[in-house]
Amino acid sequence: MGMKRMMAAGIVVCMGVQLFCSCGKEQPKEERQVHMGVAYYDQSDTYINTLVACLKDEIQDYEEDNVETALLLRSAAGSQRIQNDQVKELIDAGCNVLCVNLVDRADPSEIIDLARENDVPIIFFNREPVAEDLRQWDRLYYVGAVAAQSGIMQGELAVELIGSNPSIDRNKDGKIQYVVLEGEAGHQDAIIRTENVVDTMKQNGIEIEKLGNGMANWNRAQAQNQMLQMISQNQNKIELVLANNDDMALGAIDAYEKLNYTESALPVFLGIDGTDVGLEAVRDQKLAGTVYNDKEGQAEAMAELAIALVTGEGMEKIEFENERYIYLPYFKVTQREAEKLLKRRQSSPAIFSVHCQLSSQKAESNQGEYNF
Ligand code: BGC
Ligand code: CA
Repeated sequence: MGMKRMMAAGIVVCMGVQLFCSCGKEQPKEERQVHMGVAYYDQSDTYINTLVACLKDEIQDYEEDNVETALLLRSAAGSQRIQNDQVKELIDAGCNVLCVNLVDRADPSEIIDLARENDVPIIFFNREPVAEDLRQWDRLYYVGAVAAQSGIMQGELAVELIGSNPSIDRNKDGKIQYVVLEGEAGHQDAIIRTENVVDTMKQNGIEIEKLGNGMANWNRAQAQNQMLQMISQNQNKIELVLANNDDMALGAIDAYEKLNYTESALPVFLGIDGTDVGLEAVRDQKLAGTVYNDKEGQAEAMAELAIALVTGEGMEKIEFENERYIYLPYFKVTQREAEKLLKRRQSSPAIFSVHCQLSSQKAESNQGEYNF
């Protein structure tokens, strides 16, 4: 985020504080005042930080539609107890819609009870509550992406790479020796991505051999440590590193850099997310590919839904799955797409909307299509 954008974001938050202070516990008098409270699981998460920045921009854009918007942010530092208190605080400050990125996606009951008592709708995002919890009340929604799709796409990227580069099988035993870097235990995007990437490779006739896996909680530094251990246990046998997100793929690369491996001795690395750092690594051919987790599309869908929930207008235009869910599609990114995505970002430093049709793939969005 550039300096200007950071300042703009700061102003939105400050405006929010002023507005909230003046309205206290009361519900907003006017339904065109959208007071959004955003609670997210941890401020150190690269992907979530950018997703929240996108959301700030999206909600601010509605000012042009004669809607007064304000936003309050709370990060829970990885504690569900802290997040429960923060949600109470946001409701007490007068929020009339909440966006919640749960710390523990299996434990939303206290937050749901608080919201229901105060009649404040919740849009959960990124960390998907279990289906029964989302049915606890009819003003609960979820915006995210289908985890299996990202695993399948990462698997397809691996299949394409292995098919076109026989040298990836460094020891020429006809099998690909791989390791996995996994996100948090219990997160839908960790377990499901891992299962699907492996299944997709197998279904496409790739012989694979798992050498190890490390749990690195989405985190680059933890991934570096896990990777250092796996390298020491397997000497030079690792041919492919599958990471549940870009930050962990970059952590794996860091480990090899730390050990001064030459480029020709490196395995192939694949990530998921398409964060700015991830895209740069794909462009520079450090990462062989990634799968774009459409934060811009998710933020846009959340803002649209939040506005509709508060103003009562536009709900009929929103397409839900199972009445309460909005899933944005993933798409595959190799060097060519990474270059385009980064160029596009440079030419419009404001948030660029990516949920688009890449010329090479049909990634459909429920918000229309854009071409590069
Ligand atoms: C992203 C990760 C992120 C996690 C946080 C996942 O969808 O791929 O990068 O750390 O969500 O919940
Ligand atoms: Ca091999």
